[in-house]
Amino acid sequence: MTSAFDPAYGEAWNQGQCLGILSLPDTWLTFAQVEEVAVGFALNRFLVEEAELLLLAVAPEQRRQGVARALIERTAADAERRGARRLLLEVRADNEAIDLYRQAQFAEIGRRRDYYRGPSGLRDAITLARPLG
Ligand SMILES: CC(C)(COP(=O)(O)OP(=O)(O)OC[C@H]1O[C@@H](n2cnc3c(N)ncnc32)[C@H](O)[C@@H]1OP(=O)(O)O)[C@@H](O)C(=O)NCCC(=O)NCCS
Repeated sequence: MTSAFDPAYGEAWNQGQCLGILSLPDTWLTFAQVEEVAVGFALNRFLVEEAELLLLAVAPEQRRQGVARALIERTAADAERRGARRLLLEVRADNEAIDLYRQAQFAEIGRRRDYYRGPSGLRDAITLARPLG
Protein backbone atom coordinates (compact mmCIF):
# COMPACT_ATOMS: atom_id res chain seq x y z
CA MET A 1 0.00 0.00 0.00
CA THR A 2 2.61 2.53 1.03
CA SER A 3 5.03 1.82 -1.80
CA ALA A 4 2.38 1.64 -4.52
CA PHE A 5 0.41 4.87 -4.14
CA ASP A 6 1.66 8.38 -4.84
CA PRO A 7 1.32 10.12 -1.44
CA ALA A 8 0.49 13.40 -3.20
CA TYR A 9 -3.17 12.41 -3.66
CA GLY A 10 -3.81 10.69 -0.34
CA GLU A 11 -5.19 7.60 -2.09
CA ALA A 12 -3.49 5.00 0.12
CA TRP A 13 -5.42 3.79 3.13
CA ASN A 14 -3.89 3.54 6.58
CA GLN A 15 -3.80 0.38 8.67
CA GLY A 16 -6.90 1.31 10.66
CA GLN A 17 -8.92 1.91 7.51
CA CYS A 18 -7.80 -1.43 6.03
CA LEU A 19 -8.54 -3.39 9.19
CA GLY A 20 -11.88 -1.63 9.53
CA ILE A 21 -13.10 -2.51 6.06
CA LEU A 22 -11.80 -6.07 6.20
CA SER A 23 -13.91 -6.71 9.27
CA LEU A 24 -17.08 -5.99 7.26
CA PRO A 25 -18.99 -8.88 5.72
CA ASP A 26 -18.72 -9.30 1.95
CA THR A 27 -15.35 -7.58 1.77
CA TRP A 28 -12.43 -9.56 0.41
CA LEU A 29 -8.77 -9.11 -0.36
CA THR A 30 -6.90 -10.87 -3.17
CA PHE A 31 -3.12 -11.01 -3.20
CA ALA A 32 -0.89 -11.60 -6.20
CA GLN A 33 2.28 -13.46 -5.37
CA VAL A 34 5.53 -14.08 -7.21
CA GLU A 35 7.61 -16.83 -5.61
CA GLU A 36 5.55 -16.52 -2.41
CA VAL A 37 6.16 -12.78 -2.09
CA ALA A 38 3.10 -10.52 -2.24
CA VAL A 39 3.51 -8.15 -5.20
CA GLY A 40 0.03 -6.71 -5.50
CA PHE A 41 -3.49 -6.74 -4.14
CA ALA A 42 -7.11 -5.99 -4.93
CA LEU A 43 -9.45 -4.95 -2.12
CA ASN A 44 -13.08 -5.55 -3.01
CA ARG A 45 -16.57 -5.51 -1.60
CA PHE A 46 -19.90 -6.93 -2.63
CA LEU A 47 -23.20 -5.16 -2.10
CA VAL A 48 -26.52 -6.49 -3.38
CA GLU A 49 -26.01 -7.02 -7.12
CA GLU A 50 -22.83 -5.03 -7.45
CA ALA A 51 -19.21 -5.45 -6.49
CA GLU A 52 -16.71 -2.64 -6.09
CA LEU A 53 -12.99 -2.79 -6.64
CA LEU A 54 -11.97 -0.42 -3.86
CA LEU A 55 -8.19 -0.47 -4.26
CA LEU A 56 -5.80 -2.06 -6.73
CA ALA A 57 -2.03 -1.79 -6.41
CA VAL A 58 1.12 -3.49 -7.65
CA ALA A 59 4.62 -3.02 -6.23
CA PRO A 60 6.54 -0.55 -8.42
CA GLU A 61 9.27 -3.06 -9.31
CA GLN A 62 6.71 -5.64 -10.47
CA ARG A 63 4.68 -3.47 -12.83
CA ARG A 64 3.90 -3.98 -16.52
CA GLN A 65 3.94 -7.76 -16.23
CA GLY A 66 0.20 -8.33 -16.17
CA VAL A 67 -0.20 -8.55 -12.38
CA ALA A 68 -2.98 -5.94 -12.22
CA ARG A 69 -4.74 -7.47 -15.21
CA ALA A 70 -4.71 -10.86 -13.46
CA LEU A 71 -6.03 -9.31 -10.21
CA ILE A 72 -8.89 -7.64 -12.11
CA GLU A 73 -9.87 -10.89 -13.83
CA ARG A 74 -9.78 -12.75 -10.54
CA THR A 75 -11.87 -10.07 -8.86
CA ALA A 76 -14.41 -10.14 -11.72
CA ALA A 77 -14.70 -13.94 -11.47
CA ASP A 78 -15.06 -13.83 -7.67
CA ALA A 79 -17.65 -11.03 -7.88
CA GLU A 80 -19.65 -12.98 -10.43
CA ARG A 81 -19.58 -16.04 -8.21
CA ARG A 82 -21.00 -13.92 -5.38
CA GLY A 83 -23.87 -12.88 -7.64
CA ALA A 84 -22.71 -9.44 -8.79
CA ARG A 85 -24.06 -8.22 -12.12
CA ARG A 86 -21.46 -5.52 -12.52
CA LEU A 87 -18.11 -4.48 -11.11
CA LEU A 88 -17.58 -0.81 -10.26
CA LEU A 89 -14.55 1.27 -9.39
CA GLU A 90 -13.58 4.87 -8.98
CA VAL A 91 -10.32 6.35 -10.21
CA ARG A 92 -8.66 9.75 -10.42
CA ALA A 93 -9.31 11.14 -13.90
CA ASP A 94 -5.62 11.56 -14.70
CA ASN A 95 -4.47 8.21 -13.30
CA GLU A 96 -2.62 6.21 -15.96
CA ALA A 97 -4.46 3.13 -14.67
CA ILE A 98 -7.47 4.21 -16.75
CA ASP A 99 -5.84 2.59 -19.80
CA LEU A 100 -5.65 -0.65 -17.87
CA TYR A 101 -9.32 -0.47 -16.89
CA ARG A 102 -10.52 0.34 -20.40
CA GLN A 103 -8.64 -2.68 -21.72
CA ALA A 104 -10.34 -4.74 -19.00
CA GLN A 105 -13.82 -3.84 -20.37
CA PHE A 106 -14.63 -1.01 -17.98
CA ALA A 107 -16.55 1.99 -19.32
CA GLU A 108 -17.21 5.37 -17.73
CA ILE A 109 -20.64 5.73 -16.10
CA GLY A 110 -20.15 8.82 -13.95
CA ARG A 111 -17.85 11.59 -12.83
CA ARG A 112 -17.37 13.45 -9.53
CA ARG A 113 -15.98 16.91 -10.12
CA ASP A 114 -12.93 18.02 -8.11
CA TYR A 115 -13.00 14.93 -5.94
CA TYR A 116 -9.23 14.61 -5.40
CA ARG A 117 -6.92 17.33 -4.13
CA GLY A 118 -3.33 17.05 -5.38
CA PRO A 119 -0.19 19.17 -5.63
CA SER A 120 -1.30 20.82 -8.86
CA GLY A 121 -4.96 21.34 -8.02
CA LEU A 122 -8.22 19.45 -7.98
CA ARG A 123 -8.91 16.35 -10.04
CA ASP A 124 -12.16 14.68 -11.03
CA ALA A 125 -12.98 11.11 -10.03
CA ILE A 126 -14.37 8.86 -12.74
CA THR A 127 -16.69 5.95 -11.99
CA LEU A 128 -16.16 2.96 -14.26
CA ALA A 129 -18.27 -0.17 -14.60
CA ARG A 130 -17.80 -3.58 -16.19
CA PRO A 131 -20.83 -5.79 -16.80
CA LEU A 132 -20.61 -9.31 -15.39
CA GLY A 133 -22.41 -12.52 -16.17
C1 LIG B 1 -2.13 0.81 -12.03
C2 LIG B 1 -1.34 -0.41 -11.56
C3 LIG B 1 -2.19 -1.21 -10.58
C4 LIG B 1 -1.04 -1.27 -12.82
O1 LIG B 1 -0.38 -2.49 -12.39
P1 LIG B 1 0.45 -3.40 -13.43
O2 LIG B 1 0.59 -4.75 -12.83
O3 LIG B 1 1.67 -2.69 -13.83
O4 LIG B 1 -0.53 -3.46 -14.71
P2 LIG B 1 -0.48 -4.59 -15.85
O5 LIG B 1 0.93 -5.03 -16.08
O6 LIG B 1 -1.46 -5.66 -15.54
O7 LIG B 1 -0.96 -3.73 -17.10
C5 LIG B 1 -1.76 -4.29 -18.12
C6 LIG B 1 -1.94 -3.24 -19.21
O8 LIG B 1 -2.57 -2.06 -18.68
C7 LIG B 1 -1.98 -0.87 -19.24
N1 LIG B 1 -1.25 -0.13 -18.20
C8 LIG B 1 -0.88 -0.56 -16.98
N2 LIG B 1 -0.24 0.43 -16.31
C9 LIG B 1 -0.18 1.48 -17.15
C10 LIG B 1 0.35 2.78 -17.04
N3 LIG B 1 0.98 3.22 -15.93
N4 LIG B 1 0.25 3.61 -18.10
C11 LIG B 1 -0.38 3.22 -19.23
N5 LIG B 1 -0.94 1.99 -19.39
C12 LIG B 1 -0.84 1.13 -18.37
C13 LIG B 1 -1.00 -1.36 -20.30
O9 LIG B 1 -1.69 -1.45 -21.52
C14 LIG B 1 -0.63 -2.74 -19.78
O10 LIG B 1 -0.22 -3.61 -20.81
P3 LIG B 1 1.31 -3.52 -21.37
O11 LIG B 1 2.22 -3.50 -20.18
O12 LIG B 1 1.41 -4.76 -22.20
O13 LIG B 1 1.37 -2.25 -22.16
C15 LIG B 1 0.01 -0.01 -10.91
O14 LIG B 1 0.69 0.89 -11.78
C16 LIG B 1 -0.14 0.67 -9.55
O15 LIG B 1 -0.13 -0.01 -8.52
N6 LIG B 1 -0.28 2.02 -9.55
C17 LIG B 1 -0.41 2.77 -8.29
C18 LIG B 1 -1.72 2.52 -7.60
C19 LIG B 1 -2.90 2.91 -8.48
O16 LIG B 1 -2.92 3.96 -9.09
N7 LIG B 1 -3.93 2.02 -8.54
C20 LIG B 1 -5.10 2.22 -9.38
C21 LIG B 1 -6.10 3.10 -8.74
S1 LIG B 1 -6.89 2.36 -7.33
